[in-house]
Amino acid sequence: MPVRLVDHPLVHDALLTLRDHRTSSADFRLTARRISVLIAAEAFRDLPTATATVQTVLAPATGTRVASDIVIVPVLRAGLGMLEAALEIAPSARVGYIGLRRDEHTAVAARYYINLPAKIHDSFVLLVDPMLATGGSAADAIDEIKAAGATHIRMACIVASTEGVATMAARHPDVDIVTPVIDPHLNDRKYIVPGLGDFGDRLYGTL
Ligand code: PRP
Ligand code: URA
Repeated sequence: MPVRLVDHPLVHDALLTLRDHRTSSADFRLTARRISVLIAAEAFRDLPTATATVQTVLAPATGTRVASDIVIVPVLRAGLGMLEAALEIAPSARVGYIGLRRDEHTAVAARYYINLPAKIHDSFVLLVDPMLATGGSAADAIDEIKAAGATHIRMACIVASTEGVATMAARHPDVDIVTPVIDPHLNDRKYIVPGLGDFGDRLYGTL
């Protein structure tokens, strides 16, 4: 299961702003959108393409067009912080939703909402969830996406952990992860350290 590390300087500048505990909710939201555009662009890098020709005002011009249906699946809630950014660069994508909430004490995710588009067998499915901590949420979300028929799945996140990557490697070795960073460990409440805290709470000001 390859992990693709995004090393763009603008991504790492934004990541540090997200990590900074002084960043306000408003700035956090804007920065989450900015970093997500760049991460999503990397996640979409090898979308299938097909040759096409258009007519300019002067002559025919041949280039390529994306040749795959795209489905973006945010994990609620925090994944919503990446959705609009991904849609900005893939505006014709279809969108599915998976609602998961980690139990505060056990850190085990419970499913509360699943709504995926039909006919996704041949689609390029991008799961977006900013935090890959224990990996339980992402792995459960991918179980759902595979159960709906998808065969080409990728995950984009903003902070991964070594434990989360290991969980994904064990449960979904076929799913690539695109992330700027893999943080070294989780604390006793299963938060990523150094991480950036609770992404959903910081995004929505529910701290
Ligand atoms: C966060 C995050 C992931 C999950 C990661 O969601 O958005 O979905 O935790 O943790 P894991 O890898 O250990 O499963 P949370 O459950 O806090 O819900 P929220 O998005 O509603 O805040
Ligand atoms: N969810 C978050 O939002 N942050 C973490 O560090 C772990 C899970």
